[in-house]
Amino acid sequence: MGVRVDSVTPVQEPRVVAIVPAAGSGERLGAGTPKAMVPLAGEPILAHAVRGLVADVRVGLVVLATPEGLEEPMAAIAAGASGAAPVVAVTGGRTRAESVAAALAVVPDEVDVVLVHDAARCLTPAAVVGAVIDAVVSGADAVVPGAPVVDTIREVVDGGSRTIDRSALRAVQTPQGFPLAVLRRAHARGDADATDDAGMVEALGLPVVIVAGHPRAFKVTTAQDLVLAEALLAGGQQDG
Ligand code: CTP
Ligand code: MG
Repeated sequence: MGVRVDSVTPVQEPRVVAIVPAAGSGERLGAGTPKAMVPLAGEPILAHAVRGLVADVRVGLVVLATPEGLEEPMAAIAAGASGAAPVVAVTGGRTRAESVAAALAVVPDEVDVVLVHDAARCLTPAAVVGAVIDAVVSGADAVVPGAPVVDTIREVVDGGSRTIDRSALRAVQTPQGFPLAVLRRAHARGDADATDDAGMVEALGLPVVIVAGHPRAFKVTTAQDLVLAEALLAGGQQDG
């Protein structure tokens, strides 16, 4: 679809854009429809994700990457949840990184901060979004929410395994935040091994700051995760 971004450049400072990679098929969820479109408490997962992002009023534009052919319906769903923030949609790619790159290509140059947020982390509290933006505004090159690891972790080694000290480990969530120029540079380099955007910035030799993540920023991956998300919303809990 045609994407016009000149008319939707956010005007308040800092100018924050949220890229939402939502082009995955949701194979592990197995709902038979792209995961971002799967209903959760009566509306698509995508709507919940977008509402959580714009709960921080600094988010002035939402750029979606969608499966091919779903650009318009998904933009409409997101726009219904994005309040004053305009929404544009681009066709995603075969991988998450390609989807982010496609969205990044239409982000206006005047933007200060770019967030990249999985549509599937649809219950992420606004406080996490805010903490990520704050850290980028304070000068960080890359910011990720990190949650403590609860399981004992063993590393597989030749002939067996060994326990790893989990106290220093963090499970990485989204939104991840970056100055626009840094994320552009990371994607231009295109690190094929990086599993997320912060990893691509790390490959540039820049530090990645961790802010406090939250249990509700979990990613809906399997059917069990969807049951949990439904229960949290039905319980009306704001913190979990
Ligand atoms: N994503 C994307 N483009 C892709 C693959 C994934 O935009 N080519 C997005 C998904 O829509 C999701 C986020 O990246 O919001 C995290 O990916 P994941 O949870 O793995 O979602 P899916 O790829 O849809 O799920 P699965 O791997 O089970 O198929
Ligand atoms: Mg996937």
